[in-house]
Amino acid sequence: MLALLGLVMVFASCGDQGKSSSNGALSSSAAEKVYVAPGEQDDYYAFLSGGYSGNLTVYGLPSGRMFKEIPVFSQFPTSGYGYSEETKPMLNTSFGFVPWDDSHHPDISQTNGELDGRWIFINGNNTPRIARISLSTFETEEIIEVPNSAGNHSSSFITENTEYVVAGTRFAVPVPQRDMPINEYKGNFKGALSFISVDPEDGRLDLKFQLMMPGFNYDLSHPGRGKSHGWFFFTTYNTEEANSLLEVNASQNDKDFIAAINWKKIEEYVNNGGGTKMPANYAHNVYDEHTHAATTTMKKEVLTVDPTKVPGAVYFLPTPKSPHGCDVDPTGQYIIGNGKLSADLTVHSFDKMLAAIEGEKFDGEAYGIPILKFEDVLAGQVKSGGLGPLHTEFDDKGNAYTTFFISSEVVKWKVGTWEVIDRKPTYYSVGHLMIPGGNSRKPFGKYVVAMNKITKDRYLPTGPEMEHSAQLYDISGEKMELLLDFPTHGEPHYAAGCPAELLTPNSKKIYRLDENKHEYATLSTGDARVERKGNEVHVYMSMIRSHFTPDNIEGVKVGDKVYFHITNHEQDFDVPHGFAMIGQNTSELLIMPGQTKSSVWEPKEPGVWPFYCTDFCSALHQEMQGYVRVSPANSNIDLSWSLGGD
Ligand code: CUA
Repeated sequence: MLALLGLVMVFASCGDQGKSSSNGALSSSAAEKVYVAPGEQDDYYAFLSGGYSGNLTVYGLPSGRMFKEIPVFSQFPTSGYGYSEETKPMLNTSFGFVPWDDSHHPDISQTNGELDGRWIFINGNNTPRIARISLSTFETEEIIEVPNSAGNHSSSFITENTEYVVAGTRFAVPVPQRDMPINEYKGNFKGALSFISVDPEDGRLDLKFQLMMPGFNYDLSHPGRGKSHGWFFFTTYNTEEANSLLEVNASQNDKDFIAAINWKKIEEYVNNGGGTKMPANYAHNVYDEHTHAATTTMKKEVLTVDPTKVPGAVYFLPTPKSPHGCDVDPTGQYIIGNGKLSADLTVHSFDKMLAAIEGEKFDGEAYGIPILKFEDVLAGQVKSGGLGPLHTEFDDKGNAYTTFFISSEVVKWKVGTWEVIDRKPTYYSVGHLMIPGGNSRKPFGKYVVAMNKITKDRYLPTGPEMEHSAQLYDISGEKMELLLDFPTHGEPHYAAGCPAELLTPNSKKIYRLDENKHEYATLSTGDARVERKGNEVHVYMSMIRSHFTPDNIEGVKVGDKVYFHITNHEQDFDVPHGFAMIGQNTSELLIMPGQTKSSVWEPKEPGVWPFYCTDFCSALHQEMQGYVRVSPANSNIDLSWSLGGD
């Protein structure tokens, strides 16, 4: 196996050093296919996870142009997310304020197994969390922490009517957490699979139940769809339950498992009073679009389910060689397991699985969970000829596309016959890939995006650190065609995409001032004022091209906490204003039309300190500025302010 991993280096370093497709007519036709002329727009949105940036980035396809970075789990000084008073609660957890994470797998909400474009979900891997982002405002609206989980990796995948967003733990851990010897892991640690319900109207999240599985590592997951709707499939590795040197000790078993979970059965069990409530402590953070503010609720209980108490709900499907990707084809019939250390892909049949369960043809059990016989559930194997398969996605013509990390390629194969149709190199060491709608019942099989781990010579060097590289292939024909390289931010582990017209009609242009319910909003200039409450000073400020009201404030003292609550009075699309205060220990704010944001400033020294607008908003942007006079702590200067008015 170490030899196999050694091949990574060989493959990754023997890449083409030049422009691989710069051969005249061919490359100019590729250029035409990705060229979006000035003033025209892309056909697809692509949402790429930001990995260790903790965020989610928005791109257009086919151009590969980045449109926005949506802050999710990380503080983001560009907009003030996680720094403003309103958004700080979004990053609260049971561990306190955690202003970063490792975001992995976005998934767009679905209705009847088709993308509906309402929300996109993404997981925080490090401090287990699930976020829901509005695809109207493109802002994070909700984050729920996942207790009893660690390395929230097999997440965040949704069922076909967005009944649940599912989050599985990568690390098995003691549940509840306690002080115990690490080498007593085996048989004692648990692997929690969490089912978080999504309110069909407003999308609100609620941790409905956690399935307490054996202490394996749960790597990736996907829901059943169509005929297999009601089931969820999780790949596992380290069924050896090793706690040290996993690269050797977790690769002893020839086969690990795909866990097949009949979540409808468990839901029914829970709805009939099944399960055990256990004490827990986790944060639930909700942002309200009308108050423009987030609140945190600490939840104290979670409903756990012992899988052995729900007969017929959980089975193990033996799957070779530490499988990573767990992907279900658009018909819901086939479950593909990509064994990272195998050359072949294992395809399980849903119908055969049901028949084997019906016939009770088991091959033993693990911790009371029946293991099905490999041969009984196997639909076929794809003899790929590649090395290190990771993840599979589907088009709308019955084809599948699998990435191979070690051999750096995308392989196209036929679902049902398992024959390989085409293969194209990636530059280099591809992780996941994405076809818009490619994990739904209705893929849009025009493009595939490969997300590569190693960039090397693809771009001008930028010192030791380079952005990762994505590649766009045209998959509308029999053979794939590489069209474009484009840089990505952080480390995209997965992506989700959809046709542009699914989102553009609902994309919000402004926040209406007459719907602004922020408790510190200044809805008319006449309301602008400054109030003192002990050592807190609250500035109710409005902004419009090209001034702040008030713009001169006196009577602030060293030791005060000055809260600027600033309302942008613009009601035109794309006219934000910024706010920046010298020496402020938080960040600037970027405030959208109709929105209120607050920022705290603790002046350290007496003086006259300026603030200004950070966004070039008008010809007189540079005039959009003001002063705060700060007096010594013991001064008795009264609060006063100027009202310029608009
Ligand atoms: Cu407002 Cu620049």
